Amino acid sequence: MGRWCAAFYDTVMAPVERGGFQAIRKQLLRHARGKVLEIGSGTGVNFPYYTEAERVIALDPTPAMVERSLPRTTQVAVPIEVIVANAEALPFPDHTFDTVVGTLVCCTIPDPCQALYEMRRICKPAGKVLFFEHVRVHHPLVGRLQDWLTPLWKRMAGGCHLNRNTLALIKQAGFEVTCIEPHYQELFLVIEAKAAG
Ligand SMILES: C[S@@+](CC[C@H](N)C(=O)[O-])C[C@H]1O[C@@H](n2cnc3c(N)ncnc32)[C@H](O)[C@@H]1O
Repeated sequence: MGRWCAAFYDTVMAPVERGGFQAIRKQLLRHARGKVLEIGSGTGVNFPYYTEAERVIALDPTPAMVERSLPRTTQVAVPIEVIVANAEALPFPDHTFDTVVGTLVCCTIPDPCQALYEMRRICKPAGKVLFFEHVRVHHPLVGRLQDWLTPLWKRMAGGCHLNRNTLALIKQAGFEVTCIEPHYQELFLVIEAKAAG
């Protein structure tokens, strides 16, 4: 993701945020407790919703995104630190975090399997992961449309894959899925999982 995506991200997303995403984020992030890691935190849209956490470390590999998120760290209920890093190589020891959060990010990470293994590594055994992601749908026609659109969409939307089967990847990484909540005809899923199965 580049400087242009960072500059327009909040404006482009504003209608969908108001139309439902804000409520989904708020509901999901109430479950973020203890020491929290957010991966791909972008412009920091989730920051106001961390009300129950002890503290949050947020990371994103795009410096322009991190820059935009910094003002949002000052208007929040809990301490938030933002760093530039990739989810595929998390700069933390094993079992550091109580909660790991990812929203609209697994679609964009170049190596999502490696990133999910890393998330499992740094999550405490009793910890959990919270995701809000768009996924490839089961409907054969819509799914094929997502496949067809992805090559073009990837170039327009900073590497975002419309057709990623993120739920399967989460299971494959060894997480135990405890809750799946579909939104928008299963195009978006809220997923909660435990680190240790
Ligand atoms: C669609 S934005 C989502 C931002 C935010 N999480 C949200 O919910 O609005 C995807 C974010 O993933 C970040 N990203 C891309 N590659 C990544 C990687 N390898 N590791 C972590 N984040 C990554 C991008 O820089 C971008 O900020």
